Amino acid sequence: MLHSFSSGGSRCARRGLVFVFIWGLVMIGALQYRRVENEVLQHDNPTMNDENYPTAGSWDHSLDISSASSSSSSQINNEQWQTSELTNDQKNLPLDYKSIKNLSNKLLLLNQREPLLDKSPPKTENELIKEIEKRLPSLPISYWMKNNDLVKSKNQNDNNIKSSNCVPHYPSIFDLEFNNIYWQTLKSSNGTFQLFGAYYDNRKLSRIGPAIRIVGMIDRIEPKIKTYCQLWYDGEREPKIVDIFEYKYIWFSKWGNYKQGIYQPYVIACKVPQSHWSKGPPASISLVEKPCNTATNNLRVIYNRPLKKKEFAVCVKGLDFLHEDLSVKLTEWIELITMLGADKIYFYELQVHPNVTKVLNYYEKLGKIEVTPLTLPGGQPNVPAFQHIYLTKKTNHKRQNELIPYNDCLYKHMYEYEYIALLDIDEVIMPVQDNTWSELMRRVLPKALSIRNETRASYNVRNVYFLDDLLHSHGSFDHVPRYMHMLQHVYRSKNFTKPNQYVKCFHNPERVVTLHNHFPLACLGAGCTSYPIDTEDAQLQHYRADCVKSLKKSCLQYRENSVMDTTIWRYKDKLVERVTKTLETLGFFGPG
Ligand SMILES: *[C@@H]1O[C@H](CO)[C@@H](O)[C@H](O)[C@H]1NC(C)=O
Ligand SMILES: *[C@@H]1O[C@H](CO)[C@@H](O)[C@H](O)[C@H]1NC(C)=O
Ligand SMILES: *[C@@H]1O[C@H](CO)[C@@H](O)[C@H](O)[C@H]1NC(C)=O
Ligand SMILES: *[C@@H]1O[C@H](CO)[C@@H](O)[C@H](O)[C@H]1NC(C)=O
Ligand SMILES: *[C@@H]1O[C@H](CO)[C@@H](O)[C@H](O)[C@H]1NC(C)=O
Repeated sequence: MLHSFSSGGSRCARRGLVFVFIWGLVMIGALQYRRVENEVLQHDNPTMNDENYPTAGSWDHSLDISSASSSSSSQINNEQWQTSELTNDQKNLPLDYKSIKNLSNKLLLLNQREPLLDKSPPKTENELIKEIEKRLPSLPISYWMKNNDLVKSKNQNDNNIKSSNCVPHYPSIFDLEFNNIYWQTLKSSNGTFQLFGAYYDNRKLSRIGPAIRIVGMIDRIEPKIKTYCQLWYDGEREPKIVDIFEYKYIWFSKWGNYKQGIYQPYVIACKVPQSHWSKGPPASISLVEKPCNTATNNLRVIYNRPLKKKEFAVCVKGLDFLHEDLSVKLTEWIELITMLGADKIYFYELQVHPNVTKVLNYYEKLGKIEVTPLTLPGGQPNVPAFQHIYLTKKTNHKRQNELIPYNDCLYKHMYEYEYIALLDIDEVIMPVQDNTWSELMRRVLPKALSIRNETRASYNVRNVYFLDDLLHSHGSFDHVPRYMHMLQHVYRSKNFTKPNQYVKCFHNPERVVTLHNHFPLACLGAGCTSYPIDTEDAQLQHYRADCVKSLKKSCLQYRENSVMDTTIWRYKDKLVERVTKTLETLGFFGPG
């Protein structure tokens, strides 16, 4: 065998040897030539080596040196450099370099200054994990660290797919497929899933029993593909595998964008098997196409259930105000919403002006708000200015993407609050007779129950425009600081927009399955009932330069029929005081 191999190859081998020999000769020649060339160069320019480094007295001029050394005819010596003119920049240096003649002295002086660096000690792994958990709440990183022994790497898995009694492996967090930072991906044979968050739903009214709901986007309409959930429980080596219960579309086809290939918002549900009803929430969940696949996604199952509910939370969709400095308006809004009764405001952030960041950081430290960073999944743009243009021009994409933060906010906080409102930062649900939302709901509930004796899925408030130019035609008010936008703008159109149009709600999180900006789209119990709150009791004050586009015609009439409405002045003194204090603290009125 060895023989037959060498007989065919011997001619080849001989040719190879000849080639190596010739190549060797060429290389020796080349090296020889280089050495000669180097010697010649050094002869021509004996100071070149010195010029490449600052020598005594040349520190100020290192720039000149490098440019000088590139020209072969340079004859400049140290003496000339020292006496050459100093540039303006050099004159402005805090240290008096001019009078100092040699390098060691200059170094001594320079070493007296120290750059201001962050001297915090390196972070421990535990600290890093905390940081990751805050930034990426959907990643079950602590659970993964704790159960590292369950994990096998990707390729160890393949054998056991074939066996019918397979045991899927827990995926390593390093093998997960992430998309645009916050999303985890399942690439199925018919459609890509981008998953944002998973939540444990054991609400009383849910007829399917305890379930996991996943908020995400799928680039398919009416997905039919069968997928599976792997539920990973703390202390169990194997996952419970269940098939998907439903893909709940958070949209109506008639609203547009109803096309395969465009990412569409869904709430995906998997039922917890009865054997595990008493176990509480699983630690994490993976969505797979074949039951035994090692998943490319693994979402921590969120379950925040305090002993007692607070009353009101407000959710604000992804802020997209890159260049528009809304910081002062936002401060007024946060303070007012808090005074009305929001226990916390949950913001999502795509991109904001640095001044807005200041305001958000300030209130987040005070615990009044929480900010969750957000991106658009899939191939959608995330470069800030580009994303803004995209969202402005592609209204349907914008609306569909908004449903992710809204539903994430609902499911994250459904056990923490009696009511959740989705508001923009130019909208205020204003009680007309009461001071707070709490009092308002105490007035509204008996009215609603007297009509039908059951709690509603939502309580909606009619929209009315407080347009900017209504004030400008009247002049501003002297007893209110000019920077208080809402306190100044007390003219509104006489008519409200039509019932059920552009309303905002107090949603009942015990009932809602999918949330849309204005109304819930799917509900537990007796369907998505909504009680319209009388305009004598509350109104949605909407502060805008103009009406929404679809109301162009009516907007003319709104403008022509305006009334003064000073309900907000009820909060004037306290609001001015709080906003002003915040703005002072943050340096909006200059230092001191
Ligand atoms: C630099 O100047 C200091 C005094 O100003 C002198 O003691 C030192 O010897 C000088 N060093 C050189 C390298 O000239
Ligand atoms: C892929 O799914 C869509 C529904 O989302 C369906 O209309 C289509 O027929 C499916 N294609 C294949 C090849 O199964
Ligand atoms: C309304 O329903 C509750 C229970 O859901 C019941 O206790 C109450 O008596 C009912 N009220 C009226 C007026 O029917
Ligand atoms: C305001 O509403 C009333 C009744 O709802 C209607 O008759 C009137 O035309 C409306 N006015 C304007 C300016 O829209
Ligand atoms: C707000 O932004 C402007 C422009 O960047 C800046 O000059 C100003 O100092 C900022 N205000 C505060 C309070 O930081």
